[in-house]
Amino acid sequence: MTVRLGIIGVGNIGLQHANNILSGVIQGGIITAVSARGSCSLAEQFNIPQYSNYKELIDKQVCDAVIVATPTYSHLEIGCYALSRGLHVLMEKPIGLSVAEGEQMLELVQPKQVFGLMLNQRTDPVFVAMKKKVDENLLGSLQRINWTMTNWFRPEIYFQTSNWRATWAGEGGGLLVNQCIHNLDILQWICGMPRSIQGFCGFGKYHNIEVEDEATAFFEYENGATGSFIGSTGESPGVNRFDIIGDRGMISYDGEKLLHFENRPSTSQFSQTTSEMFGQPEVCITDLSVRSPINQHATILQNFINAISSNESLIGPAEEGLKALAIANAILLSAWDREQIQMPLDSARFHKTLNERRSQSRLRAASEAEVNIDMEASFR
Ligand SMILES: NC(=O)c1ccc[n+]([C@@H]2O[C@H](COP(=O)([O-])OP(=O)(O)OC[C@H]3O[C@@H](n4cnc5c(N)ncnc54)[C@H](O)[C@@H]3O)[C@@H](O)[C@H]2O)c1
Repeated sequence: MTVRLGIIGVGNIGLQHANNILSGVIQGGIITAVSARGSCSLAEQFNIPQYSNYKELIDKQVCDAVIVATPTYSHLEIGCYALSRGLHVLMEKPIGLSVAEGEQMLELVQPKQVFGLMLNQRTDPVFVAMKKKVDENLLGSLQRINWTMTNWFRPEIYFQTSNWRATWAGEGGGLLVNQCIHNLDILQWICGMPRSIQGFCGFGKYHNIEVEDEATAFFEYENGATGSFIGSTGESPGVNRFDIIGDRGMISYDGEKLLHFENRPSTSQFSQTTSEMFGQPEVCITDLSVRSPINQHATILQNFINAISSNESLIGPAEEGLKALAIANAILLSAWDREQIQMPLDSARFHKTLNERRSQSRLRAASEAEVNIDMEASFR
């Protein structure tokens, strides 16, 4: 079966998906339509039918599935329309402006309908290796999780040339829902959901934007483990440092090297049995560093096509996207209301609080300044 794909939104990332298909990286899928605002040179070059209105593309019945790569504020409307007409949907992250929007879309999904999310970092071999160690219980009971991800630097022009990015109206947030949503997904994918979250944010601290460009969060987990997450788009050079510490050792990623530290014996066992007043467990270090990067977006897209044509399990089912968004929403809510947020998130409360900000927020007039775009440099 060849899956007929429509791409709705051919901007930065939509173009990337189109190129992955047109260059033959993707098997079993063809682009049969695109919907873009204005003319799409790629569609002209490859003679692909274009529709200025996404509803027309969907109603023409020339697609089995759509990739939605439009600004985040439009995900709910387009997602609902496509899902309610029976199309399979691959949605760009985040699923919507809030968990409540994601929940609304998920209610429309019928059996056999595939609704995937572009959680591309789940295919990163580094995070796959880290997850494997935790799933195999090689770290033992988790004690502490720290991720400092300040390597998301964005200059002012990134925001000012877009009318929707980094506005409450257009994106429902900034750093947390745009860049760090990837990290928050990996964090919960590997370590599970925290039971409470305390967040602190800097709003427009480094850029002329209304939303957060710096976030610091403190997590508590069900077993008593604690965690911290720090993100920023205002620092350079930033770092990407992710440590997961358990009773049996640690797995540590510094942005390049991935190391597994195995305690022999476990920390608790050593502590109970040693007579060495200043002793520590022996540690065996294994280098698990991964040298070969992969095309993450193509891997998720291929998996989505395989899920439609041969029932392959989705790497990023849409409902999974609610979890990272719940963490991002909770950090914001905690920062706004200066309180510790208990999880699961009260999605209606967040949505109401966000809507108060959205009602005061407008899409901006995008600057016409000339801008160089190297999309590869945007991925971390
Ligand atoms: N997974 C990733 O790595 C990744 C990377 C970048 C962006 N994204 C996500 O993808 C989405 C788009 O981001 P972007 O950076 O490509 O934005 P963008 O502004 O570069 O592109 C969006 C495109 O959608 C078009 N558009 C807007 N409304 C439309 C509509 N109703 N019908 C058809 N086209 C419409 C715009 O004209 C524009 O060309 C966002 O949700 C963003 O968070 C994901």
